[in-house]
Amino acid sequence: MEHDTTRPLTDRFGRRHDDLRISVTDRCNLRCAYCMPEDPEWFAREALLSYEEIERITRVIARRGVRKLRVTGGEPLVRRDLPVLVGLLSRVPGVEDLSLTTNGLLLDAQAGPLARAGLRRVNVSLDTLDPERFARLTRRNVLDRALRGVEAAAAAGLAPIKINTVLVRGYNEDEVERLTESAREHGWELRFIEFMPLENDGSWNPGRVVSGDEVRRRIEARWPLTPDPAADPSAPARRWLFRDGRGAVGFIDSATRPFCADCSRLRLTSDGHLRVCLHDDTEVDLKTPLRGGIDDAGLERLIEQAVLEKGRGGALDLLERRRVRLPRRTMHQIGG
Ligand code: 5AD
Ligand code: SF4
Repeated sequence: MEHDTTRPLTDRFGRRHDDLRISVTDRCNLRCAYCMPEDPEWFAREALLSYEEIERITRVIARRGVRKLRVTGGEPLVRRDLPVLVGLLSRVPGVEDLSLTTNGLLLDAQAGPLARAGLRRVNVSLDTLDPERFARLTRRNVLDRALRGVEAAAAAGLAPIKINTVLVRGYNEDEVERLTESAREHGWELRFIEFMPLENDGSWNPGRVVSGDEVRRRIEARWPLTPDPAADPSAPARRWLFRDGRGAVGFIDSATRPFCADCSRLRLTSDGHLRVCLHDDTEVDLKTPLRGGIDDAGLERLIEQAVLEKGRGGALDLLERRRVRLPRRTMHQIGG
């Protein structure tokens, strides 16, 4: 199978899709209130794509120019033998970047095997450095384990370590400086993600969004910044360098500056649906045709069709209509 970059997956708005987020499970060993209910109903085991099925879909998508893969969940590390999938994905022709989004709890044991299987780097979601707050938000008292996981990832060479932080006003916005200081000490790249109306618990409102600009100004008051001259202008994170040379910090301004116009992302849900936009419930079922024996050309046509039907941008729609319609799936069922 050839890697055909002459026919990229381009949609009606001219956006090329070169990034696939693969969710491998809807399960998680935490219960972050904004992400999932306390007692969720999980997909049945048979509903999940097998690793072979994920690999097959990925190969077909990669033939059309997808170069970046990210494995997500739920919490991807709770799925058994994840290094086996990482090994399969790392050998898909055309793939240049293979990363993982995790809460870090299981990295202690798995960082080494994942790195050996071909994983390049990790993003660890961490919203607070306060153990009690962590326990309240995630409903588990395990901040120390998450931090041990980050250390294990660094020791295994899964670098650069990126830390994803969602700030929520009135909850953790007072930790900007503390998080920044800690990240600089450890050599992590912090990325502040604006809170989006994707939450499970109905807690989102515009007043709870802490804008990337506000956070940047606060950081700059202590540690002068300069925009990264090498930054990719189409990347969702705006990257800034610390002027003293000690690292970088990123801002993903999903609410105040939606990046739909440059969107290059596709998502494969753990139950086998291709989702072309995070904020749009339109999905194409790939699992049923796959299990019904469809060939690669047929699969490719379904994927192409889904991309052609992608809207202008779910985040833009949300903001311009000034109304909040929560997606049918919450983040743990979609994949970040
Ligand atoms: N708004 C912004 N980011 C979110 N995430 C989960 N829910 C939301 C939300 N409502 C983040 C997680 C994780 C990434 C995959 O998405 O914190 O870092
Ligand atoms: Fe892409 Fe949809 Fe996210 Fe906009 S909201 S950036 S179109 S996935």
